[in-house]
Amino acid sequence: MENVTIFKHPLIQHKISHLRDKETGTNEFRRLVEEIAMLEGFEALADLPLKDKEIETPIEKCITPVLAGRKLALIPILRAGLGMVSGMQALVPSAKVGHIGLYRDESTHEPVEYYCKLPDPIDERQIVVVDPMLATGGSAADAISMIKKHGGKKIKFMCIIAAPEGLKKLHDAHPDVQIYVGHLDRCLNDAAYICPGLGDAGDRIFGTK
Ligand code: PRP
Ligand code: URA
Repeated sequence: MENVTIFKHPLIQHKISHLRDKETGTNEFRRLVEEIAMLEGFEALADLPLKDKEIETPIEKCITPVLAGRKLALIPILRAGLGMVSGMQALVPSAKVGHIGLYRDESTHEPVEYYCKLPDPIDERQIVVVDPMLATGGSAADAISMIKKHGGKKIKFMCIIAAPEGLKKLHDAHPDVQIYVGHLDRCLNDAAYICPGLGDAGDRIFGTK
């Protein structure tokens, strides 16, 4: 699938295995989500544009590359996406952070919007939407539609675990968006949870269950 990267890196795979384990407690879960976000982000941001800048080292003047253009916009989908923000900020501390609030209706599994606050202006920024779970794909597809309505154009989506159904839905809805997946799982169950997955990411990050 064009515009889709499924990571193979052993460190990402190893950390995802720990994340899945039901014995992994909240503190470690949060730390792993942060580390995986950083490892994935390092790869996903490999095409950030650079420009030359003149600086003076203690030895001499030189022309050296720095990030070009407007600051990156990092947009977590609430709640679980928040867990990936600190790992990405470690890579790009200057990133602006927007928030999109969506939750899945428990019976229909359709996303319900409750919040949207994005960096302004958004149109020229490289945008990275983060959410650990891509299940039916409804939340990510809706979040990206909201961002496009506000003028967002250059959009990447980064998740930790995806179901094939969600990956297809997101890619079909937004073929222009570059999608990064830590691991592609087997399928969804009847409750639209990813199998084998890791359970409810928001609850495991925030200790709410
Ligand atoms: C989870 C997850 C995604 C969504 C994925 O959030 O963080 O946002 O489900 O499912 P989908 O691909 O089927 O839309 P949830 O709705 O549980 O909300 P929460 O983060 O507030 O717990
Ligand atoms: N949201 C989660 O947190 N986990 C899933 O498996 C599916 C949606």
